[in-house]
Amino acid sequence: MTQAQDGKDRWDERYREPGFAYGTEANEFLQSVVTRLPPGRVLSLAEGEGRNAVYLGKRGFQLTAVDQSAVGLAKASGLARMHGVDLSTEVADLKGYRIEPSSWEVVVSIFCHVPPSIRKRLYRAVVEGLVPGGALVLEAYTPQQLELGTGGPKDRDLLVDLSTLCRELSGLTFEIARETVREIHEGRYHDGAGAVVQVLAFR
Ligand SMILES: C[S@@+](CC[C@H](N)C(=O)[O-])C[C@H]1O[C@@H](n2cnc3c(N)ncnc32)[C@H](O)[C@@H]1O
Repeated sequence: MTQAQDGKDRWDERYREPGFAYGTEANEFLQSVVTRLPPGRVLSLAEGEGRNAVYLGKRGFQLTAVDQSAVGLAKASGLARMHGVDLSTEVADLKGYRIEPSSWEVVVSIFCHVPPSIRKRLYRAVVEGLVPGGALVLEAYTPQQLELGTGGPKDRDLLVDLSTLCRELSGLTFEIARETVREIHEGRYHDGAGAVVQVLAFR
């Protein structure tokens, strides 16, 4: 089995468990910035079971959700139907995922942890994929999270700090760019004080 297949199977397995691994409420940082987002099309990377897409869909955004887990996205579609939200889903590995340039008013990346080789190329594509004035909303665990152990990857390579992010997202104007430790209660896998980086940036 390849490493990518192994990763995908792990996520499928997690999403086959009953309930929603990260809850059905949207990510708290996303909720805190939603009024600053331009209206229009949203690309949500690593959307999982759909909590963030449904939240945005209910607020009038047009959502496309990408994730490698077909099981996760099937749950996302079900959640969207339950809330009367239109959701377009795409099962895809972000490695090599093509983002059409200047196509998205908003890109959302909440706890999307991929290795540096994928991340660098993905972030370039994200910067170019935004329309002028388009926004990126991102929250991810930092390496400090390894000491806290309240969720997130155990592999240092999948975690990212603020200076790396700012470098890899050059070309954007940062309105929020900070590392912080916050109480996270977003499902059973993200529970407790979490060390995160938060970004709201505009092209
Ligand atoms: C911690 S979950 C976060 C899900 C969602 N963003 C949320 O906050 O509820 C991480 C997600 O990243 C996805 N993922 C990880 N690596 C990926 C890759 N290479 N391509 C596509 N999706 C990936 C997993 O399938 C999983 O759904």
